[in-house]
Amino acid sequence: MSQSNDTPTLTSSPAWINLEQHYSAINTKKMKILFAEDKDRFSKFSLHFESILFDYSKNRITKETMQHLLSLAKQCNVTQWRDKMFSGEKINNTEGRAALHTALRNRSNTPVYVDGIDVMPKVQAVLDKMETFARKVRQGDWKGYTGERITDIVNIGIGGSDLGPKMVCRALTQYHHERLNIHFLSNVDSSHAESILKGEELNPETTLFVVASKTFTTQETLRNALTAKKWFLDWGATEKDVAKHFVAISTNKKEVTAFGIDPDNMFEFWDWVGGRYSLWSAIGLSIVLAVGMKHFIELLEGAHAMDQHFQEAPLEKNIPVIMGLLGIWYNNFFKAESSAVLPYDYYLREFPAYLEQADMESNGKSVDREGRRIDYSTGSIVWGAEGNNGQHAFYQLIHQGTKLIPTDFIIGATTHATCNQHHRNILVSNFLAQTEALMIGRSQEETRQQLKAAGVKLKDVEERIPHMEFEGNQPSNSIIFKELTPRTLGSLIAMYEHKIFVQGIIWNLNSYDQWGVELGKHLTEKVLEELESGNDIYQHDSSTKGLLEQYRTFRNETKRGQK
Ligand code: F6P
Repeated sequence: MSQSNDTPTLTSSPAWINLEQHYSAINTKKMKILFAEDKDRFSKFSLHFESILFDYSKNRITKETMQHLLSLAKQCNVTQWRDKMFSGEKINNTEGRAALHTALRNRSNTPVYVDGIDVMPKVQAVLDKMETFARKVRQGDWKGYTGERITDIVNIGIGGSDLGPKMVCRALTQYHHERLNIHFLSNVDSSHAESILKGEELNPETTLFVVASKTFTTQETLRNALTAKKWFLDWGATEKDVAKHFVAISTNKKEVTAFGIDPDNMFEFWDWVGGRYSLWSAIGLSIVLAVGMKHFIELLEGAHAMDQHFQEAPLEKNIPVIMGLLGIWYNNFFKAESSAVLPYDYYLREFPAYLEQADMESNGKSVDREGRRIDYSTGSIVWGAEGNNGQHAFYQLIHQGTKLIPTDFIIGATTHATCNQHHRNILVSNFLAQTEALMIGRSQEETRQQLKAAGVKLKDVEERIPHMEFEGNQPSNSIIFKELTPRTLGSLIAMYEHKIFVQGIIWNLNSYDQWGVELGKHLTEKVLEELESGNDIYQHDSSTKGLLEQYRTFRNETKRGQK
């Protein structure tokens, strides 16, 4: 809903009020009763997209809930905003930019205009440049300064310039070129650089650094790139050899050149690509190096297919729309604070971390797109881990804690790993059993019967029941796909991107800026100046000052100890 001073706010709008009333009527309703009442519940509340099944039947919803949520989507003009995004309107209003990650994977190649200019030829030109470069590296034609073939690639970047390519590279491990090892250096803690450069025993003569930074001003990335360059030169290479071992991905040619990277070795992208939406751009170079252009294009095609689904499917059959609305239902009506993503797939282990940035940096906002403070909760706290490991760690809280945590369970029907069917069956059984357990729970009476049947002494049974009862009614979505191919992965990522978009529109946010990261960066510069100069230059609160002094004391003691 576009708000002006005389239109109602989101929380006083008709669709919202209807949802509040509906929530009061059904919030205690048990899902297991809903399943018992309707044998077709699964088919009514699940959707297919290519080889992906999205089952949302284990949610605290009825047909009426979905009607109310869909009315909310209509009231908030989700489809109109979606069309604005795809057509290149500057929906990132605080930065005056379009949000056109969809153009990067527009495999239909229809024109997309920014400021009256079709961006598709530029998109294709960069893809071509990536392909030519990657082919040379992969075939061994791109030689290091001593004539050796490249064996190791280090992507140096952080945030969107790290998490997206890293997640995809890990997910598509089975497609990797066998000679090339891909490493990701993000943390400015020198232990990270050291653990890659020294710990993995890289050879400067066969290592290629891909410095990935949209702005090329990010402190951590530039520091790590300088460290890598020093390590390279210390080996005996010269400045002129740098061109064979360092390439850059950025929107900022000036800074890339100032850093000493040949602009010919720069892969460009544009300010209408948000950092956390950039894996489809030149930021995906490490993906192309790892899995080849053919598979990267398949990834883009999968995302494009999901884009088309998002644009064309009616709202009630539109997976990202349904996902977004369910998130709103729990976040704003059940007051759920967080939501968990639980892949039952080793290769998808980086997916939760990737989504943390995609979702929380996009929708962690407390003013609307016009800058007015809002009176409703936004941006869910997104977290997660490999599901099977999580069962033995944090699932306790999801099953029996005091918080409602909606979850997404994700699994592939097959694996690329040498398939030991028994492994697979155990994994899938856990996946299915967990969502069932979360939903059905176990009543006091059922617990009593089970304890008795297990031979627990009668006097202990009643004591144990409160600890062993499960309330159940914990909502989950289940996403099952046939196989983790580049195409499926592309669709899966785009599905979540659009879910985030839908929620941002309903909350009337600009999901494409991230001003919240600026203050910390600014203060870091000040403190760094103090640490390096040894002087107190700025005023601090007593805690920050105390910590700073303690750090200096420890550092000086360590230095003295080393002498
Ligand atoms: O500080 C946050 C952020 O700007 C993210 O949005 C971005 O993905 C990351 O830093 C890295 O930025 P860059 O690609 O410009 O180095």
